[in-house]
Amino acid sequence: MMKVTVLISGRGSNLEALLENQTDYQIVHVISNKPDIRGLTIAKAHGVVNSYLNWQNSEHAELMASEIIEQEQSELVILAGFMKILSSKFVQRHRQKIINIHPSLLPKYPGLHTHQQVIDHGDLIHGASVHLVDEQLDHGAVIAQTKLTVEPKDDALTLAEKLIAKEHKLLTQVVSLIAQQHIKLNHQGISVNDQPLLAPMIID
Ligand code: GRF
Repeated sequence: MMKVTVLISGRGSNLEALLENQTDYQIVHVISNKPDIRGLTIAKAHGVVNSYLNWQNSEHAELMASEIIEQEQSELVILAGFMKILSSKFVQRHRQKIINIHPSLLPKYPGLHTHQQVIDHGDLIHGASVHLVDEQLDHGAVIAQTKLTVEPKDDALTLAEKLIAKEHKLLTQVVSLIAQQHIKLNHQGISVNDQPLLAPMIID
């Protein structure tokens, strides 16, 4: 059973999907940088150990988070709607162990307001990515993506609504594949069934 720590900042719908699909992995700890968010309520309802860490002193918060991750012997750290940028020190300490879900087809649209950017650019396809976290924001190697057709009547809100359901499927499947060791996050790169991953997997 692969042990996982999840970092959140808000609604926690991706966390909820992960909790409901725990098969070969177990969420051992949920860390939030905000108190009183829905995501923490969900963690508690599932009986998962959870911690609120005040990120105002980010260096201290990261140290506490690192200690939790290591004490829990987490093999994977998932950023699921975690809105803080992690330092390179933290990333290096947990190298090849941190993944993030981002609501765009990376390398397009790192950062915020991805749905609006899709509309503003007149894109016909939108999607979400699960990627390895490196020192740059929304930047590390993309493991898998899900795609969505943009309809003429779509706006940022409808895109967000349609995408979130696909995000849940994307993230839970990637985590299961990592737990089953079909996907391996090596220092040499990502492999799928022991073949190097040359392009992101598509999970629709
Ligand atoms: C998701 O769209 C995720 O891709 C992004 O933040 C949102 C979090 O939603 N990073 P939730 O908290 O999982 O409901």
